[in-house]
Amino acid sequence: MEEALDEQKQYIERIREMIAGKQMGYFIQTLGCQMNESDSEHIAGMLRDMGYIKTESVEEASIIVFNTCCVRENAEFKLLGHIGEIKRLKEINSGLITVICGCMMQQEHITNKIKKSYKFIDIIFGTYNRHELPKLIYRKMTLKKRIFDIWEEQKEYVEGTPVERTSDITAYVPIVYGCNNFCSYCIVPYVRGREISRKPQNIREEVETLANDGIREITLLGQNVNSYESDMDFPQLLYYLSDISGIERIRFMTSHPKDLSDDLIEAVASIPKLCKHIHLPLQSGSSKVLKEMNRHYTKESYLALIDRIRSKIPDVTLSTDIIVGFPGETEEDFAETLDVINKVAYDFAYTFIYSKRVGTPAEKREDQISDEVKDERFGRLKNIIDAYSLSSNIKDVGRVLKVLAEGPSKTNADIMSGRTESNKIVNFSCDPSFKGSMVDVKIIKGHTWHLEGEKYDI
Ligand code: 5AD
Ligand code: SF4
Repeated sequence: MEEALDEQKQYIERIREMIAGKQMGYFIQTLGCQMNESDSEHIAGMLRDMGYIKTESVEEASIIVFNTCCVRENAEFKLLGHIGEIKRLKEINSGLITVICGCMMQQEHITNKIKKSYKFIDIIFGTYNRHELPKLIYRKMTLKKRIFDIWEEQKEYVEGTPVERTSDITAYVPIVYGCNNFCSYCIVPYVRGREISRKPQNIREEVETLANDGIREITLLGQNVNSYESDMDFPQLLYYLSDISGIERIRFMTSHPKDLSDDLIEAVASIPKLCKHIHLPLQSGSSKVLKEMNRHYTKESYLALIDRIRSKIPDVTLSTDIIVGFPGETEEDFAETLDVINKVAYDFAYTFIYSKRVGTPAEKREDQISDEVKDERFGRLKNIIDAYSLSSNIKDVGRVLKVLAEGPSKTNADIMSGRTESNKIVNFSCDPSFKGSMVDVKIIKGHTWHLEGEKYDI
């Protein structure tokens, strides 16, 4: 592991020397989830150390990186849209280096297509060798040929890669990479490999550094944080991180319902810094569909878990992910999903139309649902979910909530934006100097996706 980091440092230094004195800019476009955002922060950190300067537009950049997602088809369409733009830029600036990386690149049929039909892409790498970027750029610069380097699996996780954070108030901290669950619709285990948990000491060191840098809130990331496995389990890790001074809030995501233990519920109930918010993807409310999705819980066991959580943490905020139109989903199955939503009354939820992913078991099924049926169910689902979000947000009106002020809104410097403990966005009138502080905010209006408030002075 240290060898990999030493090698990375050497290549960073070589590129620094090569581009010294030249004004070189970088632009990173990130698609997908928080894990990708975190990876992009490490890519930005390496580019910064090589001497590249962040640019606001693709036109100004000497190196453009697309960090891709393939969890649903529309994420792939987005990349194809951006690729046309790169071609245009490459035509007017032949010295430009173009890079595509991330989840989509772990799929052979995609990389074959890029190699053959998108000759203006210079470097491709996947999810397992992000730390090698300096070497790949060096090779591109010296060998003057296209560089493709995709690993089959994660051989090791390289600690210590430089990082350039997007926020100076909140930060993502990955604790587990990869996923072992193989939900039958999902591509993630194929493109991010088996679970690798970081060592508690490395995580703690990172969080301590963040706290020293002024970060107030951290979000621990993993496809399934509950399966964190090292010298400690996940609840133990939470206790271990809970005494780092300067960090005022700890969040985590995502929890798999099959692995959410009573110890974790106890930790959320008893650690003051731990936000009382649990994101617990349901995916479907039908036990039959859940079995076919390989989720390892039933409608009843999920609802029993929600009851256990609510009895221990009465003021908990609950959110979820739901997929409509999984192969074979009947109207009755869909009604079961709506039934769970009505029983749980989620504070907010992310809803998705099932998207066929190459290589997953669900893709091979012949009982795929038509687009018309999927769209119609999605519309109904969205209406119900939105109504529950709105009602949860309206319930907050009149309350005074603690909001971590993340920064003034881009369009109006007098409006501050932040989040409540429940992870709801609040826009409120407040002096910009409060950025980074925990502010008491009186909620004056609830919208579907955010709250409006004003700073509360006693
Ligand atoms: N189609 C639609 N949604 C999907 N998700 C994962 N794979 C698919 C797919 N093939 C959703 C799940 C997951 C979220 C991150 O994305 O709801 O929890
Ligand atoms: Fe995909 Fe399931 Fe793993 Fe989540 S737990 S990343 S849905 S396979």
